[in-house]
Amino acid sequence: MTVHEAAQKLLRGALLVFPTETVYGLGALASNEKAIRKIFRVKGRPIHNPLILHIAEKRQLNELVQEIPSSAKILIDHFWPGPLTICFKKSKNVSDLVTAELPTVCIRQPSHPIAHRLLAMVNEPVAAPSANLSGKPSATTFRDAKRQLLKKGVYFLPGRKSPLGIESTVVDCSGRNLRLLRPGVITKHTLESVIGKKIEDSSKGKKVRSPGQLLRHYSPSGKLMVLFGTREKRRKYLSQHHFDKKERWAFGLIGKKMKFVLPGTIFFIASSEQNLNTYASRLYRFLNNCDRAKAKHIVLELPKTKHPLLPTLVNRLEKASRGRIRAL
Ligand code: TXA
Ligand code: MG
Repeated sequence: MTVHEAAQKLLRGALLVFPTETVYGLGALASNEKAIRKIFRVKGRPIHNPLILHIAEKRQLNELVQEIPSSAKILIDHFWPGPLTICFKKSKNVSDLVTAELPTVCIRQPSHPIAHRLLAMVNEPVAAPSANLSGKPSATTFRDAKRQLLKKGVYFLPGRKSPLGIESTVVDCSGRNLRLLRPGVITKHTLESVIGKKIEDSSKGKKVRSPGQLLRHYSPSGKLMVLFGTREKRRKYLSQHHFDKKERWAFGLIGKKMKFVLPGTIFFIASSEQNLNTYASRLYRFLNNCDRAKAKHIVLELPKTKHPLLPTLVNRLEKASRGRIRAL
């Protein structure tokens, strides 16, 4: 399918899977309520979890929001197009179905060339959650999006692997204080240094600021355990632990191959201890591979480093593993 054909599908009310720089999205025309309802149905997504809008050009923002606060202007100038979603007070032009009746709307301008061309041809905001079934790992490859959403009556615009591999950072600029709702490749620290003031971290803790925080997320079907520690401690744990050979295991490892081999499939997130960007870009593909191989147990290593992406990865892995992060 060409980008032009894909744009026509969206304009006629169809759902479309398309690549972005973060993860693949499942898009629908924001103004088409029937199509928006179908997004919730296809994903099995609770209706109270709002969608984010994707735009091709910054000028499209004006009619979607009540105001663009000065902090948001700085962030837009600095990070758009790119993996930053900003939450604004919504205008009456945005349907309550998209925002789950919240008074705010989350918007981003993707930098991915295919996503940009598509959005420019549509020339209207496109609502798009990640292209996965609700609760499952996001899709960072065309193949993973297709595996989860095939036979769901949606169209596919293929692309390469999503280069970043983790969903956008979400920051709320609609209130008096800026709040981080979801960490991403753009970190809290980076946002603070650009904006010159502190941002409240609402992505963890008990108070729920974003409906998405309530939900189980990113989880493979197998039981995932994350080993968090230095390389030496992880090696020691793995060499001392007994893995039941009758079960199907998957291992997500940093660096070298494991010494022992089990009958189940073994996968790798081959990434250096220091560079968590590669880790982030391969995480969801690994979790999707585990599902494809029907792994019953998954052991994933997470290196203890000072890399700025560590809090983002911990945020996703806490949800994916349902809290089973083992600090060694
Ligand atoms: O990178 C991304 O953001 C990807 C690509 C496709 O753009 N999209 C994505 O969408 O991750 P989704 O629906 O999987 O995650 C959006 C998150 C959800 O946790 C949702 O609850 C939150 O943003 N959200 C959306 N609108 C909101 C609002 N008005 N207030 C607070 N949270 C909101
Ligand atoms: Mg999602």
